[in-house]
Amino acid sequence: MADLEQMTGDWLARIGAAGDLAALETERVAALGKQGVVTGLLKTLGGMSPEERQSEGPRIHALREAVTAAIADRKAALEGAELERRLATEGLDMTLPVAGASEGSVHPVSQVMDELAEIFADLGFAVATGPEIEDDWRNFTALNIPESHPARAMHDTFYFDRKDGEGRSMLLRTHTSPVQIRTMQSQEPPIYVIAPGRTYRSDSDATHTPMFHQVEGLVIDRGITLGHLKWTLETFLKAYFERDDIVLRLRPSYFPFTEPSAEVDVGYTIQNGRRVLGGTDHWMELLGSGMVHPRVIANCGLDPDDWQGFAFGCGIDRLAMLKYGMDDLRAFFDGDMRWLRHYGFRALDVPTLSGGVGA
Ligand code: DAH
Repeated sequence: MADLEQMTGDWLARIGAAGDLAALETERVAALGKQGVVTGLLKTLGGMSPEERQSEGPRIHALREAVTAAIADRKAALEGAELERRLATEGLDMTLPVAGASEGSVHPVSQVMDELAEIFADLGFAVATGPEIEDDWRNFTALNIPESHPARAMHDTFYFDRKDGEGRSMLLRTHTSPVQIRTMQSQEPPIYVIAPGRTYRSDSDATHTPMFHQVEGLVIDRGITLGHLKWTLETFLKAYFERDDIVLRLRPSYFPFTEPSAEVDVGYTIQNGRRVLGGTDHWMELLGSGMVHPRVIANCGLDPDDWQGFAFGCGIDRLAMLKYGMDDLRAFFDGDMRWLRHYGFRALDVPTLSGGVGA
């Protein structure tokens, strides 16, 4: 057993020379495996006299420990080198174009918002935004809906317990109309904006969800008339539905923030049991609109004798359903991948007026 030192040196050299993890594993099995050399030496302990075992036992165990430690060290070194090699060679170029099909898709609501931005950008409108947590002054009062006004009750509002720094009640905005107020407060007219976004009401059935989407339109300029409103809506809806035979009907209506107010119906026909927009066979209500009430303009610090305008508000989910054929609003927000695979859009389906806003 005098050559145990020699053996230890040999094994450490063999382990140190193992060039990869597979070679190292071969050495491990040769030394420590069931039939391994070191294991064989350990087995000889059983046949030794107690004296012999006392002297040889610690030396053989020391050999096993030295070999085990050397293998662990070599393994760590080889794994570290392997990781370095992969980090150096397996780069990912994020600037390369997308190849093949990707799992994710663009939700129809996002797609329609992009379509709206594209169509209205072409008409000279910018996109305005506002917070979903709003104060009751901008959501109601400034829009000529005072505290006692029945329209407040009609909105099924989600209120927060807290008030803001100015003592105003906080709420989840019930419509995108408060963005009108924010825009008039922060921008000099002329103003041409649309404001798409999330809105909230405590309501839930096949055609109502507590969270839904609206787009607001606002124009403030000099000499604006109902004619401008009608032309803008017609141009928008023809581009959106990609049909020239879209016909609108303005019906007198009432909204506190517009005077006069008009509900806008769009004509449709029934083909193979489905509603197809265009023509004048039937009418469905599509959006609310009107000339911005002088009191609303004054509430924002502008002189209504100088500035006039029109506004409109429209449900985006409804626009998406009419164009892309879904019939249950709730499915929009279920997060079901099967629905998204069917109705979703590819990330690269960017709507453009030249390429078609329908994607
Ligand atoms: N804010 C209204 C609602 O949610 C929709 C609306 C109607 C917006 C007429 C307007 C408008 O800007 O002029 O029911």
